[in-house]
Amino acid sequence: MIVRQVGPLRQKVRAWKRAGQSVGVVPTMGALHAGHLSLVDAARAACDRVIVTIFVNPRQFNSPEDLANYPRTETRDAALLAPFEVDAIFVPDPDQVYPAGFATNVSVSGVSEGLCGAHRPGHFDGVATVVSKLFGMTGAERAYFGEKDFQQLQVVRRLVADLDLDVEIIGCPTVREADGLALSSRNARLDTAARAAAPALYRALQDASEALVAGAPVAPTLAAARAAILAGGYAEVEYLELRAEDGLAPLEQADRPARLLAAAWIGGVRLIDNIRL
Ligand code: PAF
Repeated sequence: MIVRQVGPLRQKVRAWKRAGQSVGVVPTMGALHAGHLSLVDAARAACDRVIVTIFVNPRQFNSPEDLANYPRTETRDAALLAPFEVDAIFVPDPDQVYPAGFATNVSVSGVSEGLCGAHRPGHFDGVATVVSKLFGMTGAERAYFGEKDFQQLQVVRRLVADLDLDVEIIGCPTVREADGLALSSRNARLDTAARAAAPALYRALQDASEALVAGAPVAPTLAAARAAILAGGYAEVEYLELRAEDGLAPLEQADRPARLLAAAWIGGVRLIDNIRL
């Protein structure tokens, strides 16, 4: 069921499509958790055939240490996927994705600027490039992404619209621990104290969101949320911004569908989260 080469994957997909079956893909970098599994569940419910891809994409990492430290847990991932009976786990060999001579970069402007884009140069080019490849390799007509990476979801939507890619993008809600912490592969790197304090980020987003919905002014509300995140044990707030939900334009007033998005550092780990107003 694990497929490592594009050729055999394409053969499978062609046979499924000839039989009139729909194909969904869940792109991941492995180290699967319940957030990923909720995407697989959604794909399983809507598609005849489901492909989960696992590829730790070097092009979207900013630092060699981050890439080297990224957990690689293929055997565990396959075991977690077993109950979902996915039709293929595509774990491409690196040369399948970036063969010698690879010379293309997919770069989405606008929605990729600011927020994570400002702090992780090249990150969204790496994401857009690999996602384009994964769509091309899998031929899926539906693709599932978590809202936890909300800016990534917007980048992928823009990419698909701009390049007329024949794939429907499905955004799925963030899955949280009981205390509110958004699930992330990075949570495993939090020590006990940092893990206990980490929900302060979501709490601050919730409080700020409630205040904004009740009509509080944006700038002081965001300043109070930043202070609450730092008081809650975070070392640094990289950004905390109110953006339009569609297109991510910065907002000075919460006067249309909006998201609060934040990135902050705790215990040497960078966490992101966002909330719809
Ligand atoms: O969200 C992720 O895990 C990655 O950015 C993705 C979409 C699989 C591309 O490498």
